[in-house]
Amino acid sequence: MNSDRNRALDHARDLVAAAWTEFDTARDIQPPVSAELLATLDLPLPEQGIDVVTALDEAAEALDQSLAQARPRYLAYIGSSGLEIGALADLLAHSHDPNLAIHAGAATLIEAQALRWVAEFVGFPATGGSFTSGGTVSNVTALAAARERAVPGARRSGTPVSAVAYCSADAHYSIVRAIELLGIGSDNLRAVPMDAHRRMDPVALDAMVRADLAAGLTPIAIVATGGTTLTGAVDPLGAIADVCAEHGIWMHVDGAYGLPAAAVLPERFRGLDRADSVSIDAHKWMFVPKACGIVMVRDESALTAAFGHETSYIPEADDEPGSRNAVDVTLEYSRPLRALKLWLAFRTYGAQWFRDSISRTLDHAQALHAMAAARGWEVGPDPDLSIVLMRKQGIDNAELVKRLQDDGRVYISHATVDGETWLRPCFTNVRTTAEDVRVLMDVADEVSGN
Ligand SMILES: Cc1ncc(COP(=O)(O)O)c(C=O)c1O
Repeated sequence: MNSDRNRALDHARDLVAAAWTEFDTARDIQPPVSAELLATLDLPLPEQGIDVVTALDEAAEALDQSLAQARPRYLAYIGSSGLEIGALADLLAHSHDPNLAIHAGAATLIEAQALRWVAEFVGFPATGGSFTSGGTVSNVTALAAARERAVPGARRSGTPVSAVAYCSADAHYSIVRAIELLGIGSDNLRAVPMDAHRRMDPVALDAMVRADLAAGLTPIAIVATGGTTLTGAVDPLGAIADVCAEHGIWMHVDGAYGLPAAAVLPERFRGLDRADSVSIDAHKWMFVPKACGIVMVRDESALTAAFGHETSYIPEADDEPGSRNAVDVTLEYSRPLRALKLWLAFRTYGAQWFRDSISRTLDHAQALHAMAAARGWEVGPDPDLSIVLMRKQGIDNAELVKRLQDDGRVYISHATVDGETWLRPCFTNVRTTAEDVRVLMDVADEVSGN
């Protein structure tokens, strides 16, 4: 067992080193899944194992033939980077495999410290929260707290039929899903109109809230997006916070994608510190591997009110600060130590490295936007964050995205905005360089027949 273990570790080390080296220099194709691999991936349940080195090779080959977000010219959706120190953190954390459901000693303290660090990094006065599997779980967690705050006892008696909530039409689908799961019903999720920049219109929001209150409805939460998935627009947080304060409504900021930028563009996120809860994904624009979401709240007792409970199989937490069982503030029970990735990355690189790296990706978006306009492409509004909208007049842009993906030198996805298809490169990868941006532009020109 020992020699097998060491052989496996040595071989895994080589495979990881080869992958990391390759990510330093982008490759020119996205290889299709080979016939040999397809045959392996069709095998029935193995009764007997094979040599670990062969099995690791198969796994590495499968990953090499997968769409890997860590590659520097992967600019689709909202990618991540698989930051090396984060991958090592996962190896360590999964090897020790603490369970963050209950108070797990130092692992719990690491989670609490990483949460304090990320709160300070973006400028949100958190008193509690937890690491999650991502924005989807963070959002439903925050909205469960909001529902309980607006209607104390709703967790037991059910959501009242009068409940309503608000977000812009460009909010991520996970908000709709959370509202459905919490029994509010997506028919009662108001789509607040947006301005020409696709940011929520706070005057329209206020009018909608007033009309609903006059009709006897019960606002549960207003969800502002700190960087929409579609275009990267940041809703006006300060003006939305004013509406929330005026009517005593819970303010949630979904910053799963965009919130890291608050560390370098605080003026764009002014009002963030007035929110009741925020979501942020470190596995997006803070570069660490999935899954590493964080939900933070201004007042942790709101989470305890929504999730606290007693069972005969979970030990009682003692009264020391930080010693509460995480199952009393989270949706999940068994949880891995996701926080170690971010903790180790902050510890290794420091906050300034993160600010510099995020600034660089913002610069990439500005550079591409300017370059595309100069080369005759139609471009969307000046990017709030790191998503660029660009399209070619007179051609099918959905088809162009497909052709670019087939070409494989760069990988981007599309956005449909008011029925029109745009190319939508998104810069969240720490490995992407200014040269990669130029290559993207050249390849887009070439494939579009410019
Ligand atoms: C604004 C926003 N919220 C929530 C999510 C969902 O996050 P996750 O995929 O980590 O659950 C995303 C994903 O892209 C997002 O962009």
